[in-house]
Amino acid sequence: MKEKTEPKQNPAHIAIIMDGNGRWANKQGLPRIAGHQEGLKATRIAVQAAKDCGVKYLTLYSFSAENWKRPEEEVNFLFRLMEDTLRKEGEELHQNNVKVLFIGRRDELPQELKDTMKNIEKLTYDNTGLNLIFAINYGGRQEITDAVQKIMDSGEKNITEDVIRKNLYTADIPFPDLIIRTSGEKRISNFLLWQGAYAEFYFTPVLWPAFTEADFLKAIGAYHRRHRRFGGAS
Ligand code: FPP
Repeated sequence: MKEKTEPKQNPAHIAIIMDGNGRWANKQGLPRIAGHQEGLKATRIAVQAAKDCGVKYLTLYSFSAENWKRPEEEVNFLFRLMEDTLRKEGEELHQNNVKVLFIGRRDELPQELKDTMKNIEKLTYDNTGLNLIFAINYGGRQEITDAVQKIMDSGEKNITEDVIRKNLYTADIPFPDLIIRTSGEKRISNFLLWQGAYAEFYFTPVLWPAFTEADFLKAIGAYHRRHRRFGGAS
């Protein structure tokens, strides 16, 4: 699908694994939740920077399907933080022509969060600026599993890559051009497994709460220096 981006133009779709909140907090002698609160500031910076760079899609890994393994208080805190933020900042995102979308298994999320997600999706549905996609209770394997189930239920017998792609949560979203991971970890952690097949990766040791606009621009700079061949010859 979206495999035509020429290197010298800014990536149309950037996806970020926002990692290192806990370690940032630990370094400051603060509880982990303080790291998430501070991480939210970096999230705002990234959204603004993406808008300023004319990026059309920004996907943020906000809660993975595996994050349920964390202590219950931390999980609840994260859901409250997301709900609060989306409720308070929905109007401002709307004023900025941002279209908010969500990917992941929604059913398992708290009702208030689901309601808030639905409201903001509805509010920003017709917006034409940045597409801001929050991956919440998201896992790439779960997404592919859900796609296979949907295809089975539809009775489709002819399985092609396109059929699978159209049944992913991201059916209407182009594949990511650039995936950024902060905190020095160099893993994909079940993020956009299908979609990221030909993404460029950028890893930085910066912990998410310390991530700045300059770091965002550095990642884009690195992307410009890559040669994307999608399996072809140079
Ligand atoms: C990873 O750091 C970060 C998270 C699991 C949560 C990220 C969520 C936000 C910044 C809020 C997003 C906001 C909205 C509105 C959806 P970590 O806890 O894994 O850090 P560690 O690896 O150092 O422990």
